[in-house]
Amino acid sequence: MHQYSQGKHNRQGHKAIPEGHFEEEQGRKGFFGLVSHLIKPKPSTRWTNIKGPLKPHLFDAINMEKKYGQRQRLIFNSDIVISSLWEKKSIQAPTTAFRNADGDSLYFCHQGSGVVLTEYGLLEFRKGSYINIPKCIVHSFFFQEETYFLIIESLSGAYREPDRGMVGKNAFYDPQSFGKPDLDQLHNWKKQNNCSVTEIHVKRENEITEFSYDECIYDAVGWKGDFFPFTLHVDDLMPMMSHRVHLPPSAHTTFVANGFVVCTFLPRPLEQDADALKVPFYHQNIDYDEVLFYHDGNFFSRDNLHAGMMTLHPAGFPHGPHPKAVKNINTKTHTDEYAVMIDTWSNLKVDPSLEKVEVKEYWQSWMKK
Ligand SMILES: [Fe+2]
Repeated sequence: MHQYSQGKHNRQGHKAIPEGHFEEEQGRKGFFGLVSHLIKPKPSTRWTNIKGPLKPHLFDAINMEKKYGQRQRLIFNSDIVISSLWEKKSIQAPTTAFRNADGDSLYFCHQGSGVVLTEYGLLEFRKGSYINIPKCIVHSFFFQEETYFLIIESLSGAYREPDRGMVGKNAFYDPQSFGKPDLDQLHNWKKQNNCSVTEIHVKRENEITEFSYDECIYDAVGWKGDFFPFTLHVDDLMPMMSHRVHLPPSAHTTFVANGFVVCTFLPRPLEQDADALKVPFYHQNIDYDEVLFYHDGNFFSRDNLHAGMMTLHPAGFPHGPHPKAVKNINTKTHTDEYAVMIDTWSNLKVDPSLEKVEVKEYWQSWMKK
């Protein structure tokens, strides 16, 4: 499709927005497809009422009742299940292992620390670690302290690295930053902790089947290949930015799966050009539903949020920064937020359990001055 324009417009998206106006991006395929920028005297988030089911959601997910050791489904569709999991500090070495035959599990450690035992070796994790456990890889956790995971389960295919295009394969994070499983550490840990895992609980179509063995299942003495579990810590992510123009959320893509992407927003300096937009742009993400999990820091584009909260912005409703963030932006020089974003191609459904922790008036938060 060729580009076309009418009336007032900025030559470069997210920059030199005419004084007293707002830019709204209307784009397909997340931030990769056909796109136009509309210049408006007021943002489209100035609704006076929304009647009907298509409302943005805010959930205080971290404050749901703690059911230790039980995955709590939060948001889902046929490609993805997003769950939370609280675990107590472990008092002894694990005796059971878990194998997920329904999909690949990406654990994000919001709080806590520990180790993961796998047949490929031992992995360590702490607050801010992603732990990627591919489908059917047997694993057992040992928690060094109380831990809270956000679990992003991919049901339709493996997690892949994003296509980094012209910025090259070391951009955003170097694949060498992955925490790789260590077999020597595994066997030493087993010995030191007198550990023998003899049961595997396998999840298939959400039903559990238990396999029992006489001896510890973590007995591999070597392996080779490109299929293995790994970790990636937010400290090893190098956010991309331009001092001249605000980059879209897709610049922060961390993992790609079938039907969704996982992005990580990290502290970074704000754009320096006087005419550059410094808050996320108003947009209609026409094809994707967006989930944001607020991990840490000060969430500069949103009001009244605390770490562990989660928003769902379904496709079909325009959104952007809260009015207060727009007003205060000139007082800031950098962002210090850490958040995980999950954008899905198919419409997401909300688990009924979130009803109790939903902040019902969230849709009105853009109306406040
Ligand atoms: Fe968005």
